[in-house]
Amino acid sequence: MSSKLIAPSILAADFANLQRDIEMVNNSEADWFHIDIMDGVFVPNISFGMPVLKAISKHANKTIDVHLMIVDPDRYIKTFAKLGSNILTVHYEACTHLHRTLQAIKSEGMKAGVALNPHTNINVLEDTINDIDLVCVMSVNPGFGGQSFIENTYSKVAKLKELITQKGASTLIEIDGGVTDKNAKALVDVGADVLVAGSYVFKSDNQTQTIKDLRGIANS
Ligand code: DX5
Ligand code: ZN
Repeated sequence: MSSKLIAPSILAADFANLQRDIEMVNNSEADWFHIDIMDGVFVPNISFGMPVLKAISKHANKTIDVHLMIVDPDRYIKTFAKLGSNILTVHYEACTHLHRTLQAIKSEGMKAGVALNPHTNINVLEDTINDIDLVCVMSVNPGFGGQSFIENTYSKVAKLKELITQKGASTLIEIDGGVTDKNAKALVDVGADVLVAGSYVFKSDNQTQTIKDLRGIANS
């Protein structure tokens, strides 16, 4: 079975020491960089935008996983490809023509992801799952780091895993929000492939060790 992946969320990094925090992730056992882009419309918060992503890309030497929490994401697909995104995830709730959006992301050479808010049922992906490289299951309401994990996520992930298997898809399942050492193993057991962790990593005393330990738990 392939390794379970850890994606530290840069939203929780120290923006005044961004290069230092990026180097920490580069030199850790983390697999991906998770980058949260918010527009203050789709979610009630604004994070950072293109110039910051450009700066991150310049130093990051691992897969760049961009999570767009913005309305009408089609407007920026080409831009995010140019800025170095390897995976571009859009919200199901923000796309009127999801199938077209997924094709547009892939045509720019990126992997295509779809994020689901906690209230959105897995069933809505029944007709697109074979076109999706990654489903990001939101385990908190998007917009802020440091929130507590929503327990209903486990049954959602199990349902999604069942759908993926039933359709013969190769979609990865990513969990985003409130991930810690307490829920990592249980999430993997129900089907998670990628664990995003923001506060749990960046607020810890030894970030490199926290990443290593979390990866160890996920792969135990
Ligand atoms: C929330 C973001 C998450 C966030 C996770 O809207 O999508 O990626 O950074 O942060 P933690 O791990 O602190 O819940
Ligand atoms: Zn995210």
